[in-house]
Amino acid sequence: ELPPASDPALVARARKAKEALGDRLFVLGHHYQRDEVIQFADVTGDSFKLAREAAARPEAEFIVFCGVHFMAESADILTSERQKVILPDLAAGCSMADMATFDQVEEAWEVLEDAGIAGVTVPVTYMNSSADIKAFCGRHGGAVCTSSNAKRALDWAFEQGEKVLFLPDQHLGRNTAVLEMGLSLDDCVVYNPHRPNGGLTDEQLRNAKMILWRGHCSVHGRFTAENVDDVRARVPGVNVLVHPECRHEVVTKADYVGSTEYIIKQLEAAPAGSTWAVGTELNLVRRLGTMFPDKTVMFLEKTVCYCSTMNRIDLPHLVRSLESLAAGQVVNQITVDPETTHWAKVALDRMLALP
Ligand code: 13P
Ligand code: SF4
Repeated sequence: ELPPASDPALVARARKAKEALGDRLFVLGHHYQRDEVIQFADVTGDSFKLAREAAARPEAEFIVFCGVHFMAESADILTSERQKVILPDLAAGCSMADMATFDQVEEAWEVLEDAGIAGVTVPVTYMNSSADIKAFCGRHGGAVCTSSNAKRALDWAFEQGEKVLFLPDQHLGRNTAVLEMGLSLDDCVVYNPHRPNGGLTDEQLRNAKMILWRGHCSVHGRFTAENVDDVRARVPGVNVLVHPECRHEVVTKADYVGSTEYIIKQLEAAPAGSTWAVGTELNLVRRLGTMFPDKTVMFLEKTVCYCSTMNRIDLPHLVRSLESLAAGQVVNQITVDPETTHWAKVALDRMLALP
């Protein structure tokens, strides 16, 4: 039974357990986490920064990952066997990552083989995918990317082959290919894992440069082009800043696009008095308003738009993780098997080695 998050004594309990663990513990917090959790993070960041931070802490025996399942898996892959990665709530998954299963991706690869293009296709997976999808990419000469290095990863992939199979976020793949690499919308096709042959003819597959998996983020997918038109009509001079997981028509209409870390840096560099409509997860947008009181920060949409799985990590779950560790018990450890770790690390290392 977990105590309520509003209990002020929880803050003291979290602090006490964290102090007791000292250097044995390192807490990572993704920018979409609740404030009540973020206050205990040793480092905050986007998924790329957090993966690097996890890899750079060999002294920490316990890494408590305040984020979602695929991030904790990546941390386990990038850390040593001695280190233990803990996800405070095992139900903190990601609906986008769940849109590509290993069996579906294996089946898609067979479709590409039958169309005679697997040999010239490089699989690239967004960080937001399970460890076995990353391992699939490692095994087939591909790499991982995040929203802050997608262009560099795709440049690399097109040096290795003629086509890219991009998993699982069609929007990040399309936005990067079309808006940053000069490909056309006609160069992209969408592979639907629920349809025979992905819903595509062999000719469509052979003509395409980017084969985009039919996945999306349920949070960023909610922003529409009308949201952008609406805020521009209501707020003259507003700057529209969105995450590349948003749909293509939203990103096309926005003034700036980038990962969560980029969004924070844009706001940091913005002149005092400027106004910003931000299209990303609400915990971060609210925090930006607090961090930059000299600027007006508003949410791009009118309704509430939290990532429900990110939000599952709350103070009660964090307290339980920290107190268990302090008492010598490891609860909710995330482990990836050695074979998957090996190949997923190959794909992650290719990303970490990008210039
Ligand atoms: P970044 O942290 O790479 O910006 O990704 C956002 C996201 O949706 C994480 O789940
Ligand atoms: Fe997944 Fe979207 Fe939530 Fe990120 S914001 S964890 S991509 S559902």
